[in-house]
Amino acid sequence: MLSFGIPDNISEIWDKEIVPVTHDLGNNPLFSDDALADLVRHNPDAVREIATMDVSTEDSAHWRDSGLSAADPQSLFSAVRSGALWVNIGHVGGRDIRYQRLVDAIMDSIDDAVPGQASFNRQIGILISSPRARVYYHADVPGQGLLHIRGEKRIWLYPGHEPYLKQEDFERVVTAVTAEEISYDPSYDEAATVIDLTPGNGLFWPLNWPHRVVNGDSLNVSATVEYHTRRTRRHFAVTYANGIMRQAFGVAPRSNAIHGPAYWSKAAIAYACRKTGLGSRLIRAAQNG
Ligand SMILES: [Fe+2]
Repeated sequence: MLSFGIPDNISEIWDKEIVPVTHDLGNNPLFSDDALADLVRHNPDAVREIATMDVSTEDSAHWRDSGLSAADPQSLFSAVRSGALWVNIGHVGGRDIRYQRLVDAIMDSIDDAVPGQASFNRQIGILISSPRARVYYHADVPGQGLLHIRGEKRIWLYPGHEPYLKQEDFERVVTAVTAEEISYDPSYDEAATVIDLTPGNGLFWPLNWPHRVVNGDSLNVSATVEYHTRRTRRHFAVTYANGIMRQAFGVAPRSNAIHGPAYWSKAAIAYACRKTGLGSRLIRAAQNG
């Protein structure tokens, strides 16, 4: 079974600071080369992205689709060994219940240790990436953790507020106007926490904290953990409603509060706009107008 270690003070630091964890996924047969090849062979459509990038620069304009296919996992993995590739196999727990049991055990042990925390929509994904590959500066919408399994990588994590995370940028991410790109400046690195990940280490970080990653000179395998809580959902709804107000109506939002009457109006707007598709139509109309 899974061995998963969390800090003794996790209840004090959860969602406020970076939370280091330990795990033994590297010893789990579900993450062997053969198991990963089988996973892709049986679920080629679970491979959400096979991207390539310029490994010498930190510029999201250099992130692009590789044009490679997941149809032949062996040749894909050998391309990853020699190329500049980043392969994202998403929500593997939805394909094979054994992976879902792992992410459920991980999140159960965190929920048990953090009073009031009740996570749902838990997903585990697998990242396989080339020596020296990069993931450029970005922020993820759900709660996130990264469990490192093979190779070495360095991650820079930045505070989840201005100027590192600009509200206007992040609203575009949440309303799906852009992918996860947000603006980066090298001066932000002064505020970054830099962590070298080796097999058996991992970390969770506070909601939406921007980050970027540079692989060491080794093939990398990691697992990503995504989750939601009532609080992450409220932040999503407020950011989404603020994004609609700003992008469709040109109104600069004044609040990110997740409580009170303003929150509930925004939650209703976000729900209606997403349910009906009105949100994306309003944004498109404003862009075209
Ligand atoms: Fe990320």
